[in-house]
This record gives sequence, C-alpha cells and structure tokens, in this order.
Amino acid sequence: MNVASPKKMKHWWIPIPALLIGLTAGVWTSNSKTPVQSTVSSSLTNIERSAPKDHPGRLLYLSNCARCHGLEGRGDGPESAGLAGAARPRDFTSTDWKSDARSVTIEQMLNKGVPGTSMAAFGSTIGEIDRQNLIRYVETLAPPAARIPNNHSQRKRVQDLVDRFGWQWSSDRLKPGIKLGSTDGDRPEVTVSEILKTATQSETRLQFVLAWGVHCAICVEKLPETAEIQSVLSRLGYGYQLICVDEPSPTNVQDFLNSKVIKSKSLTDSDNGIKLSTDLSLLPVTMLVDEYGNILAKFTGVFDWRNVIQASDDAK
Ligand code: HEC
Repeated sequence: MNVASPKKMKHWWIPIPALLIGLTAGVWTSNSKTPVQSTVSSSLTNIERSAPKDHPGRLLYLSNCARCHGLEGRGDGPESAGLAGAARPRDFTSTDWKSDARSVTIEQMLNKGVPGTSMAAFGSTIGEIDRQNLIRYVETLAPPAARIPNNHSQRKRVQDLVDRFGWQWSSDRLKPGIKLGSTDGDRPEVTVSEILKTATQSETRLQFVLAWGVHCAICVEKLPETAEIQSVLSRLGYGYQLICVDEPSPTNVQDFLNSKVIKSKSLTDSDNGIKLSTDLSLLPVTMLVDEYGNILAKFTGVFDWRNVIQASDDAK
C-alpha cells in the first residue's frame, strides 16, 4: 500500500477488504449525478428506534403523560380529544416538536410546563431519578431530527440526507473532553469541545466531520477534493473537519499529507476517543455533528457532497 512510512504506524485495522464489500453493496455514490438509493432503508431504522418496553421511564410516562400524549407518544391520549381549539399535546414521534427533543429541553418543559396550555409543570412532583428516566424515555420516542434545536429547516435538511441520500441516523456522541491531535502547527493538541465551539460560529451550527485513514486507499484518493468541499460547505454555513483515525501522531499525518501534496489540515484521533464513540469499521465515514457533540447522522463510504447543496436548496 502506498503509505509514507510514518514511524509508529498502527496496523490495528486494515479497512480495505471491508471497503470493497461496501463498494459492491452500493454505498459508493461519488461522481453519480442522481442520488443513489441506499441499500439500507432509513425508514426501517426509524421504526426500530421505538422505545423498549422495559425502559425504566416507561411506567412513569404511562401514569403521568400518556393520558394526553398517548400510549405511544403520538399525541392521541384520551384527554387530547377534549382539547379541540386549544394547544394539542405534542406528537413526540413527529419531527414537529415546537422546541426540541434534547434531554435538556425536555427537562425544562417538565419543570416549567408550557404556560397557557394544558401542559402543566411536573417538576416538583417527580423525584430526581424518576425524572431523569422519564426524560430519557420521552427522548427515545422522538425521531432523531427532532433533536436539532431552534431550526426547523435544518431538521428538514438532515431528514433529507437520510430519506434521499443514504445517510443513517446516529445517537452517538463525541464527548467534549476527547483529546485530538492536530496538524495545525500552532495547536498540536485540541479537544472536541474546542472544535465544537467553532460550530457555534457557523450559520447552521452543524459540522461535517470526515473520519479517514492513511491505510484507507479510497480516503487518500479523495483527500485532494477536501479543500474544495470545505469551501462549498462553509459557504452553506457548515463547518468541516478531517480526523485521521488510524494514525495518532499529528507529525506523521502531516508528513503523510505533505507526501501527497495535500494542503488540508487534519485532526488525529490521538486517544482513540473518536473510535470509541462511534462505529468506524468502514472508512471513510462522514458525520454530521451538532454544537453539543451529538452525531445526528452519518454516511459510510464516499458521499457526493453535491447532495448537501441540494438538500440545503430544497430546505429553503
Ligand atoms: C393534560 C395534558 C398533558 C399532560 C398530562 C402532559 N402534557 Fe406534555 N404537553 C401537553 C400539551 C397540550 C403540549 C403542547 C403545548 C404547546 O403547544 O406548546 C405539551 C407539550 C409537551 C412538551 C413540549 C414538546 C414540544 O413540542 O416542544 C413536552 C416535552 C411534554 N409535553 C412532555 C410531557 C411529559 C414528559 C409529560 C408527563 C410527565 C406530559 N408532557 C404530560 C399536554 C400534556
């Protein structure tokens, strides 16, 4: 393989055979003008997300919330019928949340209620542990797109990537404390939290994160395009980060990029924190990460970034 012999290269995984399987399975969508239907049905993933029956928050939900929000969270509990004309209980299974489905927001709703509606404050009536379980339960009822705060057109964009362009929902999270190496000479070490801060400056507050590897031939072949992708994505208001996940040393990765005459900067997964946070058995993986580190959706294989432009245009 064509690798610029970095000193401490770890051969802990060689993703090439897996990638070949991925390619024949149809994840390869680069260069195709029309979107390629993914082999994995995204609607199936959403159905499979239904909350487990033995979830510790379920009983609390059934006894406190289901009379309005419905047994399955669809907003159709027996008391919802009597609320004609007034605000209807939210259908938790839709993307149409008025606020958003992150646990921090659900907690606020529980503590304060929604003034002027039948949604009362439950804060003081439910103990701390029960409350946390209940919040997690309501969270599992919601589709992943409902977790995107303050921005309904952004929800539609991400939903679009999943529905039409083969992306998969993810409920993984990049923890703010994860340490990363960086080929940016000024700061050879950064944390995920510093990277997330740059998202709050972007218009969409979302970043695309490309996990690539020096041992992944297809990743390396596509690296020269990353500079152009970065400028397109930044025009659309997204951040874009590269993370090398199979070589921890920033110096080695920089040497490698130099040997290929690639100008893009890359982070490195120096403590394996990224690998431990999400499944990266096939490379490349592109992740869409919000400002809190939630991985909203991801795409395995080389994705056609023109799809992102299309999804953005359509969401306007
Ligand atoms: C008496 C009926 C009723 C009960 C009981 C009730 N809710 Fe609600 N809930 C509502 C209504 C109505 C709304 C919509 C308010 C609005 O339109 O802003 C709502 C909204 C919410 C929202 C905000 C969703 C969004 O779109 O942002 C959350 C979260 C929520 N409820 C959680 C709960 C939980 C958890 C329980 C049980 C502890 C519960 N509710 C019990 C009627 C109820």
